[in-house]
Amino acid sequence: MCGIIGYTGQLESITILLEGLKALEYRGYDSAGISFFHNNQIQTVKTTGKVSELERNVIETHRQDLSSTCGIGHTRWATHGGVTDINSHPHTFGNVTLIHNGIIENYHQIELEFATMGKYPRSQTDSEIAAMLIDHLYQGNPTEAIKKAVKRLEGSYAFCILFHDQPDVIYSIRLGSPLVACHNSQGSFIASDLVALLPYSKDYFVLPEYHIAKLTKSEIIVTDFDGTIISPKMLHVNWDIRSAQKNGYPHFMLKEIYEQPTSLHSTLIPRLNQDFLPDLTMDHIPNRIFDSINRIIIVACGTAMHAGLVGKILMERLLRIPVTVELASEFRYQDPILCDNSLVITISQSGETADTLAALRLAKEKSSTTLSIVNVKGSSIARESDYVLYTHAGPEIAVASTKAYTAQLACLYLLTYHFALYKERVTIKECQEAMKNFSAILPAIQKTLELENEIKEISQNIIKTKDVFFIGRGLDYALSCEGSLKLKEISYIHSEAYAAGELKHGTLSLITDGVPVIALATQSHVYPKMISNIREVRARGARIIIISNGDFPMENSIYDYRISLPMVDDFLAPFTAAVTLQLLAYYTSLYLGIDMDQPRNLAKSVTVE
Ligand code: F6R
Repeated sequence: MCGIIGYTGQLESITILLEGLKALEYRGYDSAGISFFHNNQIQTVKTTGKVSELERNVIETHRQDLSSTCGIGHTRWATHGGVTDINSHPHTFGNVTLIHNGIIENYHQIELEFATMGKYPRSQTDSEIAAMLIDHLYQGNPTEAIKKAVKRLEGSYAFCILFHDQPDVIYSIRLGSPLVACHNSQGSFIASDLVALLPYSKDYFVLPEYHIAKLTKSEIIVTDFDGTIISPKMLHVNWDIRSAQKNGYPHFMLKEIYEQPTSLHSTLIPRLNQDFLPDLTMDHIPNRIFDSINRIIIVACGTAMHAGLVGKILMERLLRIPVTVELASEFRYQDPILCDNSLVITISQSGETADTLAALRLAKEKSSTTLSIVNVKGSSIARESDYVLYTHAGPEIAVASTKAYTAQLACLYLLTYHFALYKERVTIKECQEAMKNFSAILPAIQKTLELENEIKEISQNIIKTKDVFFIGRGLDYALSCEGSLKLKEISYIHSEAYAAGELKHGTLSLITDGVPVIALATQSHVYPKMISNIREVRARGARIIIISNGDFPMENSIYDYRISLPMVDDFLAPFTAAVTLQLLAYYTSLYLGIDMDQPRNLAKSVTVE
């Protein structure tokens, strides 16, 4: 989605804005632009295409003089209006230059009013209308104009605004879309994403919704709508700036796949106590919340929802409590049955996904207990949930989620065992045994990464196909859903996931000579069933790629390729299988010459509906 960066201070702002936009590129965008004060005048450079293109334009346009110490920058992901230079941000009308993330839902109505007045040209975009509205209401007091304007706006927004007669000052406000800010001896910074602030500070605050931030070179003042100055809660992140850089890897995705032994160490090890039992003390999750829970609803989108599918199987098996997994975009409009004995678990890497956030708000309205599993500290979902389990996976830059997914799985495992122990569904000894097995997953993942060459060979083998099928049972089906999503989103090869037992109810008609079928066979209790399903597709000519947990004996006539993963407890096979499927998707995309870090049409953080 769109990215925002703003800076005012002692340093050269254009460099900071361009570097900030580069750091935000991973979010997905189609055009970019900056505006900055130069000799008290605002200059704007914007273009469709990449930030590198913008950088070239800036150098060409301002070759002589690049001096500025205050400006705002934006990467746009088109929602209203085509991908054109004009529709790129910043937008300037009258006294106002503005950048916007989010969607203004009632912009058309406001546009019609302006059309009648004849004051402004017709507009294609909601963001232009916001700039016009603020300019229209501006009578020398920026805060008043902003307050009046946002009262008219419906939808979500994060704005950074320059007023032409207020040099070197940036005004910001947000509702529904994220903005984080920090001030240090170099000046004041604001961004839509922490990653852009990391080079300058690890201490930051989230701008509270419906509050106005005034950024000057010497301070950031935040006021509510009554004009009262508030001190937002400062947060600290221990993300290393290098964790947001490629560090010698050709792509962020590969780096993030390889980081998993380390990222899972951060998720897991600090949450095991000296008796090797799960310990959620650092997360402030009190046991009493489990006392009355008789139903769990997991709500999320995409990969995070797939983590929920794994969580459901674990929780139902161990806790014997009904668990449903819901797509947030559906859940929020289904009038779900929720009550105060329901625990709603939202899962989100970014913590800003609009549908997941709306689902969380709905759950809270209906008095359910809410717990979120989130990667980004201080994000909206984390802040609004009753309880949070941070995944501690570090920044995830590649659009396709990898290390965040396995960290989400790890949190679900920890939560399930913690809850099961409290409810005496498992004994201390069983839980210790499970946690020992769990920590053995770190070396097992390291060994899985060593299977890279075998996986590359399979990727080579599937790049020419139009369709790929993933099949599995139980946890393997949940993994198939994720494997299929990963492959299609970055290779553009059509793929589908099927519960292996469901094939003969329709899908089998799609299996013809040479169609690749990736069969996950890691679950021993359904292993014979899985082998029968593999035979069914084999008999229709499918090319079979089997992924098994360890070296189960199996006739080699039933497969073309086989990957034998390091043997782990069946319950933990999703970790090693996930890493394999991530590498498979990565190499397939690589061999097809696709930019897997930024696949077409996709954004890292989906902050609009
Ligand atoms: C796919 C992927 C997406 C996200 C989904 C939810 O690789 O990354 O499907 O999982 O957009 O995003 P978060 O986890 O930020 O809520």
